[in-house]
Amino acid sequence: MPTTKIIQLSTEHPDADKIQYAVEVLHAGGLVAFPTETVYGLGADALNAGAVQKVFEAKGRPSDNPLIVHIASLENVQQFTASVSEKGLQLARRFWPGPLTLVFQRKINVPDGVTAGLETVALRVPDHPVTLELLRQFNGGIVGPSANVSGKPSPTSAEHVYNDLNGKIDLIIDAGSTTIGVESTVLDVTVDPPVILRIGGLSREDIEKEIGEVRVTNAEELLRRSPGTRHRHYAPNASVILFPPADEEKFRQFIQQNKAQQKKVGSITYSKVLAGIEQSSFHVILESSIEHVARNLFRALRELDRQEVDVILVESVEEKGLGAAVMDRLRKAALHNG
Ligand code: TXA
Ligand code: MG
Repeated sequence: MPTTKIIQLSTEHPDADKIQYAVEVLHAGGLVAFPTETVYGLGADALNAGAVQKVFEAKGRPSDNPLIVHIASLENVQQFTASVSEKGLQLARRFWPGPLTLVFQRKINVPDGVTAGLETVALRVPDHPVTLELLRQFNGGIVGPSANVSGKPSPTSAEHVYNDLNGKIDLIIDAGSTTIGVESTVLDVTVDPPVILRIGGLSREDIEKEIGEVRVTNAEELLRRSPGTRHRHYAPNASVILFPPADEEKFRQFIQQNKAQQKKVGSITYSKVLAGIEQSSFHVILESSIEHVARNLFRALRELDRQEVDVILVESVEEKGLGAAVMDRLRKAALHNG
């Protein structure tokens, strides 16, 4: 079992020597957690099948869930795909580096472990100075699923990674908290119109402004194109119960019902009208901007787990822009209650 080292790097002025060390670990087939603008990723050399296998083992990830390959720039796509559709190219030019993952036809050299046997490969250029420098020095693709134990909320700080993966990975690059807080949007551009497989840090509205209409999948198509989505995701240990925005009555009622059953209740709310209701120590109030909610959502779920609550009552947000990604994560977190 590896001893997990942590190195601290400044986002603005990453120390090249420390990055060189991380590159050596990756070249030797090791596992390195790295920061991105969305969440922390668990990195390994994308063309080293053995290293990729270790990523699945460290996370306890089901083998039918493919991995995103992170690259330094658009020029690196041809290492992994031979066919970039016009819309794919247009989106990459407009939104990379950024929270958009594009699904292309794979090249044959990509290990099956990365693609989970699919004919496609997911690529993304992350918008983080430390990791862009890591990718440039590494000069190849780095797989990067979220660096959490499979099924748990994604990590938005190095501490979250450490809590989940200490002793299972070689290195954590700590560059502070991530800024967006939910994962990238995954868009399949092998078809026209392109299909959203996971809504995330880039909104559907922004994508459509650039290339026109995109589709959202139905359940059957989603399982075919992205089989890993069938698994448990984003779930804290506590049960998650959603209630409508600013619904004071529902909030009170859920608190009472759960307390009557001797449950320890935690909550995450945003609206001012709810702020005075539940003053227990398990109450996380996030400011009302959707960017702030997204940035702090996984941290709040992890924090309430640490306090060992049984139930987390979460106020829903309006489903537009980044709100669509927040609600997607919350619904999935609530799906596997009990
Ligand atoms: O923001 C993010 O995307 C973060 C950071 C670290 O970049 N990574 C991340 O990876 O969230 P992960 O593994 O937790 O989620 C990857 C998603 C999964 O839903 C997976 O099924 C999908 O991308 N995916 C990966 N390769 C795919 C492919 N070839 N076809 C369809 N879906 C794919
Ligand atoms: Mg994940």
